[in-house]
Amino acid sequence: MKISTFVAISMFALSFPACHSFSSCATRHVPAPRGVVLRSAAVDESSSSPSSSSSSSSSSSSTALTTTTSSIYADPSRYLSSHPSNNVPPHIAALVGRGLHVRPDHPIGIVRAKIQEYFANLDDGVTYRIYDAEDPIVTTTQCFDDLRIPPDHPGRSPSDTYYVTDTTLLRTHTSAHQSEHLRSGDADAFLCAGDVYRRDEIDSSHYPAFHQLEGVKLFPVEQMRGAEGLRGDEWTDSSECKAIAADLKSTLEGLMDHLFGETEKRWSEDYFPFTTPSYELEIKYEGRWLEVLGCGVIHEEVLDMSSRGDRRGWAFGLGLERLAMILFEIPDIRLFWTDDARFVGQFKEGKIRKFVPYSKYPPVYKDIAFWIPENYIENDFYEMARGIAGDIIERMEMIDEFTNAKKGKTSKCYRITYRSMDRSLTNEEVDALQDELRVKVENLGVEVR
Ligand code: DAH
Repeated sequence: MKISTFVAISMFALSFPACHSFSSCATRHVPAPRGVVLRSAAVDESSSSPSSSSSSSSSSSSTALTTTTSSIYADPSRYLSSHPSNNVPPHIAALVGRGLHVRPDHPIGIVRAKIQEYFANLDDGVTYRIYDAEDPIVTTTQCFDDLRIPPDHPGRSPSDTYYVTDTTLLRTHTSAHQSEHLRSGDADAFLCAGDVYRRDEIDSSHYPAFHQLEGVKLFPVEQMRGAEGLRGDEWTDSSECKAIAADLKSTLEGLMDHLFGETEKRWSEDYFPFTTPSYELEIKYEGRWLEVLGCGVIHEEVLDMSSRGDRRGWAFGLGLERLAMILFEIPDIRLFWTDDARFVGQFKEGKIRKFVPYSKYPPVYKDIAFWIPENYIENDFYEMARGIAGDIIERMEMIDEFTNAKKGKTSKCYRITYRSMDRSLTNEEVDALQDELRVKVENLGVEVR
């Protein structure tokens, strides 16, 4: 696995539908940064969400406040700027604001609704406020600092993240909204769903845009009296912290049973900078263990920074594509983004039914090999290819790498699989795309062989 993916998934472990091995990720065990400054973090007004107002005005019942994704997000010019830090390509800007998670008859929307339904019917006496129309542009403060993600964390690097300016970006996870909702004090419990963006490789289970759902629950102050003022190990060893972790686990186990029927599950310890203790949950699906979510007891410094230091609670985040791929047996993540009637016509609000694959058109394979410069960033290459050929690139894989000791240079060879989901590709059109790539790739400082 290439380095940038390796480190990115360790911070944002769960959202990738593919089965990665996370347990060996180096940054899982990065110690928490010292001396985190407590402050009331400033949220950039320009990127604050128009949904906050719409969510309060569209109260539908006593249990749920629902919003719909504002169409203002479906405007590529919001994401493309001449700022020197902007690295959002037009083909990514064009994906924002599609609102797949709020479409009632789209697999992503169906799974989201099922999760909300579970929380609305829980008998824990808690009302989970619903947010599903947050602005996908967030500040580095919201996405990282408020969550104790240190400034040098690789997940913040432009090789992994789409920056709109130097201080604003396309959110890499829905956790980016935790702090603002905690700080607003509007709800003691909430669910927040949305599209998230990460620069990544391409294959049947990786796509640079996908969806997450975040959940947060704060506990009543009276229940936490015994742990008042406790911090660090004293807090995590307390019976109150353990009670929160137990409630978190049983709530999420119930959610899995609601989605999958009674299913085998296993918990393991994890590391996220914003929760401690942290856990991951895996479920057994067709004989394999699949990671479905990350969660934990909210770190007291995260609560402090949101001016909620008097409260304690839990949080979790899950990837909607992975759940939908399992539930609907959808074999390729790119399908979620297609408008092809053979796909979208198969799904109905509230119904989980197996996807019936339609015929696959034949693939066309092309290889490209080049000498790489010292500062070569693989994601730049993947993205350039996607910028040229778009979604007809089904897969890119590095098939050969060697170093010529005399030249002191390393060569990499990639195989690109081109395949359209709705027509046959001609060799000529693919050759033209590949030729364009061979020319443009030199801009990355590589030397095509
Ligand atoms: N934001 C994490 C990710 O993208 C998921 C996550 C983990 C969210 C733990 C949480 C949490 O709220 O407590 O992988």
